[in-house]
Amino acid sequence: MSIQWYPGHMHKASKEMIETLPLVNVVIEVLDARIPYSSSNPFIGELCTEKPYIKLLNKTDLADPEITLQWQEYFEQRSNTKTLALDLKNHDPSKQIIDLINKLSPQKEGRNTLAMVTGIPNVGKSTLINCLAGKHITKTGDEPAVTKGQQRINLRNGIMLLDTPGILWPKIENPQGSYRLGTTGAIKDTAVSYEDLAYFGAEFLLEKYPERLIERYNILQLPKTEIELLELIGAQRGCLRAGGRVDLERVSTIFINELRAGMLGPLGFETPEVIEAELEQVAIIKAEKEEREKLRLEKAAARRRKAKANRK
Ligand code: G4P
Repeated sequence: MSIQWYPGHMHKASKEMIETLPLVNVVIEVLDARIPYSSSNPFIGELCTEKPYIKLLNKTDLADPEITLQWQEYFEQRSNTKTLALDLKNHDPSKQIIDLINKLSPQKEGRNTLAMVTGIPNVGKSTLINCLAGKHITKTGDEPAVTKGQQRINLRNGIMLLDTPGILWPKIENPQGSYRLGTTGAIKDTAVSYEDLAYFGAEFLLEKYPERLIERYNILQLPKTEIELLELIGAQRGCLRAGGRVDLERVSTIFINELRAGMLGPLGFETPEVIEAELEQVAIIKAEKEEREKLRLEKAAARRRKAKANRK
């Protein structure tokens, strides 16, 4: 699955963000701690190699703590990058974040430090900004009818926040990344079916967290395949069609909602070790696509030559 989901306003917002970058003193990227790699914006990282960079791994209440630590160590290998693991839903980390901003970018000549807050939709940017501002700020959003452009929020402590809309990049070429974004809820439901996500989620849990399935669904003997698992849960939850067959769509929705809500325990969908292999996979997919495109163009040129020859 390669998701191509890039509404027009995201293109505009992305351009606007890149244009403002030279004015920015510190970049704050909010990530989903369950998927720190798949929820990172590769372009911003590349554009900001020289700038102080704070990666906030949020939703740690839903993430595997050991894996979150691995990611923090991995990200902090880059000299100007610092990380914080947060649970914005339950804890206010304002002081820690403000101290870190001041440490990375001390104020110059009484001017405000401009800190850009970026991140894909649904990672917790608004929750963070409300927390730092100490009040509710209208969402700079990815939804229609809310502020779409950037907005500045003066924290009145020498720091000015630059709030940017949630942006997903134009094409998510890594199939694993697409599934992880869908499963955790970053990509809106319209783009991917719950059934596809549930197969992915069930396979992942069977491999990495089988004990959580046993505990949550009271299963004595785990099945081998994701379909069997969903059928078992479906039968248990009474998701049945006429004739007694399991309604896979219904059980998939239940399963994904439970997973997203943390009912299967804190999860880590990816570790830093996956990066290399997945980048290689993306390179192969790209090369194959380019080869197919080349062949298509060659065939089209050959057809045109033949048609021209026939006309003579
Ligand atoms: P965004 O601006 O990046 O799009 O994200 P936003 O702050 O709107 O947060 C998206 C959802 O994630 C919200 O839930 C928010 O409450 C939730 N959230 C933020 N931080 C955390 C966290 O640390 N842990 C957990 N579990 N959830 C978090 P919602 O259902 O959309 O709204 P609501 O529950 O606040 O009503």
